[in-house]
Amino acid sequence: MEKVTIGKSSLESTRLVYGCMRIAGDNSPEARKRGREALKAAYDAGYNHFDHADIYGAGACEEVFAEAVEEFGFEREKLIVTSKCGIHFEDSPNAGDPKRYDFSRDHILRSVEGSLKRLKLDSLDLFLLHRPDYLMDAAATAATLQELVDSGMVRNCGVSNFSPSQFRMLQSFYGQPLVANQVEINIHNVDTLKDGTLDQCQELGVAPMAWCPIGGVAYPAWGNTFSPEDEARIKKEVDRQAAKYGVEDWVLILAWILKLPARVLPIIGSTTPERIRAALQSLDLEYSREDWYLMLEARDGNAVP
Ligand SMILES: NC(=O)c1ccc[n+]([C@@H]2O[C@H](COP(=O)([O-])OP(=O)(O)OC[C@H]3O[C@@H](n4cnc5c(N)ncnc54)[C@H](OP(=O)(O)O)[C@@H]3O)[C@@H](O)[C@H]2O)c1
Repeated sequence: MEKVTIGKSSLESTRLVYGCMRIAGDNSPEARKRGREALKAAYDAGYNHFDHADIYGAGACEEVFAEAVEEFGFEREKLIVTSKCGIHFEDSPNAGDPKRYDFSRDHILRSVEGSLKRLKLDSLDLFLLHRPDYLMDAAATAATLQELVDSGMVRNCGVSNFSPSQFRMLQSFYGQPLVANQVEINIHNVDTLKDGTLDQCQELGVAPMAWCPIGGVAYPAWGNTFSPEDEARIKKEVDRQAAKYGVEDWVLILAWILKLPARVLPIIGSTTPERIRAALQSLDLEYSREDWYLMLEARDGNAVP
């Protein structure tokens, strides 16, 4: 599979990343087995980059990954393993605690230690701060990132869901390049095309990773605001283009995202082996500029000015 360098790091990631958020399912033995099989399908299809977070399956997804590495003998040196932290769910660790973000040194260090233990790894190739903590002291957070790198727990750092100004602020205190910004990009949510996030990635050579890339097509995107009329108009154009290029709707939308010049890395979250393999078809589409704009027009409900 085509590879791209992750920002100013030495990590050569496959263009499609495999997202591990759903691989523990309901955490039953059957669901975990299905998750391991999904990981095997991804590894066999050539994906070398696996995206985690401490909170996925409350830690179970990282465990399932370690089980699959052992069971199928994935070669560690071929893998890029990413994990994230910074989100506390409600009632965690104490009943009554609200959902919140936490970039405190203690929380970050404890969380990365926990991820490494569950993943059975000595270091993460890439560590991302999951969502911007409004109470972040950027100098202190940058010092914690440096501590993670100096200790060998983490090789490279980046962020997720950061605005361009949040990225710039943290980068100004951090001595190494932040190498990735993982953000939501799909046909419903095109904020990063318009708010400077992807411009910043292109300008600084930061790798944009796209989460929930097929939201709005295969399933309603987070915070869906499309009306039934919007949905029908978009679906008509997606269907037309999918038939033209001879792929399924969601594969076509991956090609739409891949066309973005910041060289976005879509994160594929399906646990269905056929879909994990079929996603690769998006890399071979010779997708035209004209169709890209027709899709944007259908999405927006009007022509560009
Ligand atoms: N940084 C962040 O804040 C953040 C937030 C969310 C996610 N993420 C990362 O992004 C990754 C990808 O997100 P995602 O899992 O939402 O990705 P996705 O690839 O957009 O969606 C995958 C989901 O869509 C379903 N699906 C796929 N094709 C379908 C079809 N044709 N019809 C109906 N359903 C279909 C899959 O079901 P099956 O499994 O049954 O195929 C699965 O439930 C996650 O694994 C995680 O690593 C990051």
